[in-house]
Amino acid sequence: MKIKSYSTSMPNRDIVVWDSKFEIKIPFIDAQHKKLIELCNNLHKAIIAMPDSSGVVVDDWQDSLLNALRECVDYTQTHFRDEENLMQAAGFVDFTQHKSFHSAFVKKILETAKSFEKKIKLAHYDLFIFCMTGF
Ligand SMILES: [Fe+2]
Repeated sequence: MKIKSYSTSMPNRDIVVWDSKFEIKIPFIDAQHKKLIELCNNLHKAIIAMPDSSGVVVDDWQDSLLNALRECVDYTQTHFRDEENLMQAAGFVDFTQHKSFHSAFVKKILETAKSFEKKIKLAHYDLFIFCMTGF
């Protein structure tokens, strides 16, 4: 599934829409793919809600973004585990290669999530130091 174009200035709407052509005809997996699309759309909306140079600040945007990111990461891991169990049970010929792709993807999103969380914590710390030294 590919996204044709992307812009952070897109309106607050779903960036990916479920389509029957995504179905693999295994209801359990199709339901998980639908949920992943929903979580990706939630993450997109949380990103769009970030304050920009206009100075408009949306309440709790950092918490919303972190929660959306964590939900994506957690559910992706759940989905990959379930998919791998299904593939193994079915004797999927490219199982090892597919599992390797899953592992690399999870490693990348975990690194991205940790990096983002660290940046938010550092920003809070910098703000705290700035406030404490400003008196
Ligand atoms: Fe999948």
